Amino acid sequence: MAVIGIESSAHTLGIGIIEDGKILANVKRMYPISDKGMIPMRVADFHVRGVRKLLREAFSTAGMGIEDIEAIGYTMGPGIGPCLSVGNITAKTLASKYHIKIYPVNHAVAHIEIAKHLNKFSDPLALYVSGGNSQILGITDEPFKHYRVYGETFDIGVGNMLDNFARAAGLKPAWGSSVAKLAIGGHYIPMPYTVKGMDFAFTGLQTKAVGMLKGSSPSDVAFSLQETAFSMLCEATERALALLGKKSLLVCGGVAQSQRLKEMLQHVAGSHGAKFGFAPDQYNADNGAMIALVAEKMLGSGKHSYGIEDCGVRQDYRADSVEITW
Ligand code: FE2
Repeated sequence: MAVIGIESSAHTLGIGIIEDGKILANVKRMYPISDKGMIPMRVADFHVRGVRKLLREAFSTAGMGIEDIEAIGYTMGPGIGPCLSVGNITAKTLASKYHIKIYPVNHAVAHIEIAKHLNKFSDPLALYVSGGNSQILGITDEPFKHYRVYGETFDIGVGNMLDNFARAAGLKPAWGSSVAKLAIGGHYIPMPYTVKGMDFAFTGLQTKAVGMLKGSSPSDVAFSLQETAFSMLCEATERALALLGKKSLLVCGGVAQSQRLKEMLQHVAGSHGAKFGFAPDQYNADNGAMIALVAEKMLGSGKHSYGIEDCGVRQDYRADSVEITW
């Protein structure tokens, strides 16, 4: 029997189907990113209008139907409330109509777990970098088995910082890819660098970089912004790696699509004798397969039982509050 997962925490509606850890479908539909940002209700409406078609596409890709589904997972949070509600209501409707088990899944845990699964890592240190989040996490057993957050941003996620800069520079915001293109051929200019132990902050850097667009070469500013932000992430990650002595490091989340960040982290891992891993881009961007994977693990552990009434959404659902039962 298979497990289906629905992801709808932000501008991507994703549906994945997994059976025994094998990804049978991972389809998605993205609200077009504009230079003006997103209005939550419009994005939620986009997801509502697309969810039936996407479900059909997922079943057709996997070559199965709802009768082959044993459990359904959906993103409980963190994320944008109206968007989360679309996946939540869809999952609850399917679960009650077809008498399928339902599992609320933490989005950050799902990003880590899919990268861990695809790299066959058992106990990695994870750098989770996306629009709204930037955290360094690793599993600990104290006081219960969970992902402890060893370091995180004091203000905004690195992805949102890159997107904000991209908008100010007249570029399309897209997980830093437009900033990376602009950075090609740029030269380094010193910028504000904020690391406190294993934590970091990005708003000072963002303000400085946006201000510098007036008098400096945009390419130099983009290059320096990217190098500074990623160096901050690498310094904090290296400190956590040295402290914990983990034998593997992975990067996950939307910003893990950055080639430059992966190059720098590969170097960090190599200097500590740790393996380095990441997932293919379709699993770094938001996706339904990662939600199905965690739901399958929750099902397999036999330690979870949720009624429809237990399943809501939590916009501030932190990874470190989730008990890892598998
Ligand atoms: Fe995400």
